[in-house]
Amino acid sequence: MAISEALEKPRKMPRTKARPRIRKTRKSKVKLDIHPASSALGAEILGIDLRERQSPGTIAAMRDALNEHSLLLFRDQDISPDQHVAFSRRFGKLEHHVLAEYLLPDHPEIYVLSNIRKKGKTIGRAGVGEYWHSDLQYLAKPSLGSIMHAIEVPEVGGDTMFANQVAAYDALSDGMKELLGGLRLVNHFAKARHYSAQVGYARPFSDEELKKTPPVVHPVVRTHPETGRKALYVSPGFALYFEGMTEAESRPILEFIYKHTINPRFIYRHQWRPHDLVFWDNRSLMHYAVQDYDHAKDRRHMQRTTISGDKPF
Ligand code: OGA
Ligand code: MN
Repeated sequence: MAISEALEKPRKMPRTKARPRIRKTRKSKVKLDIHPASSALGAEILGIDLRERQSPGTIAAMRDALNEHSLLLFRDQDISPDQHVAFSRRFGKLEHHVLAEYLLPDHPEIYVLSNIRKKGKTIGRAGVGEYWHSDLQYLAKPSLGSIMHAIEVPEVGGDTMFANQVAAYDALSDGMKELLGGLRLVNHFAKARHYSAQVGYARPFSDEELKKTPPVVHPVVRTHPETGRKALYVSPGFALYFEGMTEAESRPILEFIYKHTINPRFIYRHQWRPHDLVFWDNRSLMHYAVQDYDHAKDRRHMQRTTISGDKPF
């Protein structure tokens, strides 16, 4: 084929995309008091007391709001672990985190992130998450969303940043969408350790932890199973290389993605207050825990539930 001909007729990239399995739900009739938190993503919901059981209509409206805003903030929610678990269960099955030593005794659905020390040990996992990632992206079935309850937070510092990966996908050129739409990525939990050496968590993962988390392959562009919208699904925390490519071949494309996905326009930075409860969608967002506080002096204690999700497509 002549070069000019090839240039005129660009060939379509072959696609390995599975058939969409989108479950669009009917919109709830319940109206919540919703206030967008930034132009990138997120919304605060007022007038809700999560110590009480919410009606099915309210839960459905929260699900709609999560689909629209990707992150829901409820302030002043002084809830017990039981109430946290009960609320979380309304949105799906809950995970027990691989790092079992940080699960709350009697509540294995609650994963503790804490730098508070007792008997020479932190009572939760400390100093982690300082890299862009989506929770449980290293599992074959990653998480739908995470619900984090802030119990103690530093006066300043210890924010969490969130980046909207639907917006990041939408901002790509058609050519790049086409290219990335045909790629699949190998993800591995063990990579994240290199980002987690700060405080209490420099130990390597145990053989058992690694056995539970072998490398997994996910599409680079995933379709949100409820909204049908496409999002980038690549994080430096777990990404190794594209399936069928070498690391050297993958690296420049990965570097481009890492840079593109965290454009300030896509980001909301959450400054925690005690008893904030934040519910974020792991299918459409990445997040980053900023470790800019003094772990020896500033106490930070968070409890998180993690809702099980579907296999990305
Ligand atoms: C997490 C995480 C965020 C934070 O729990 O998944 O990344 O701010 N932590 O502690
Ligand atoms: Mn996380």
